[in-house]
Amino acid sequence: MNNNMSKRVSVRKNNLSKFFIFIVLTVIVGVITFGFCGYLNNLQILKDKDAKAQQQKQINILLAAKRKSPVFITLPGAKPIKALVDDYSKADSIWTIVSKTHPISIDYAPTDLKIPDVATRTDKSKDEQSVRSVVLTPLKNMFDAAASNGHNLMIGSGYRSAAMQKVYYDNLVSSVGEETANQAIAKPGQSEHQTGLAVDISTLSRNCYLDQCFATTADGLWLANNSYKFGFILRYPSGSEAVTGYQYEPWHFRYVGLDLATALHESNLTLDQAWPYLLKADATLRNNGAI
Ligand code: DAL
Ligand code: ZN
Repeated sequence: MNNNMSKRVSVRKNNLSKFFIFIVLTVIVGVITFGFCGYLNNLQILKDKDAKAQQQKQINILLAAKRKSPVFITLPGAKPIKALVDDYSKADSIWTIVSKTHPISIDYAPTDLKIPDVATRTDKSKDEQSVRSVVLTPLKNMFDAAASNGHNLMIGSGYRSAAMQKVYYDNLVSSVGEETANQAIAKPGQSEHQTGLAVDISTLSRNCYLDQCFATTADGLWLANNSYKFGFILRYPSGSEAVTGYQYEPWHFRYVGLDLATALHESNLTLDQAWPYLLKADATLRNNGAI
């Protein structure tokens, strides 16, 4: 090989190595650039995820605050009260209503009935001497307060099953006729006695027992004026027959809890008249996700 030829071979080899180095460098730069872009992309994805998580956290905080925020009910002439967080359409809510227009299933029976620690008619069934657990203490407190004011009270009738209510209803219909009976006693499924939240109250002496003259006795007057302080309302007041659907029953009290009993006392509304206000609060509670 002459000198010229060996020089040409050497130049070609040199060019090939340069080309090879160029390719390798290009690949390295490409890989690094690609990796770096991927890294930046992942970083952005993580940032986006973090922002979304933060946003969701804020939304959850707001929803929780909405769920917990109290809903108020203002009955005309009464101080606002906090709405009970409950579904009032259910028979086991202490704010439920049962009436001719709001019947409950005849199969409904409370699961927490107990005989209260007050005088009851022991000649009646254990069921009829019983009330819901939530009523036990307020009832005892009311009877104790009454006793310390000289009124010795007794429960005439507490819980009544729909079957028991039917016996009473049928008996009264046979003795006074359907029209009169319907003013005095509820049909099965339409009595608040079936909720275990209603009580007929008398005195131990049974003076004016389940009679309108009970309203004029010192015992009946004390109950009418003080029962709300213990969470009870006189459910069928005089003059409200067209609203409640029943005659004046100065002996029949219904437990609704202290707040609502006080507001009803202040507003002078029956539970039937307050019902639209309660329904509105219930809808707001549902809308807030509280119930
Ligand atoms: N006396 C009331 C209306 C009842 O039977 O429940
Ligand atoms: Zn009653």
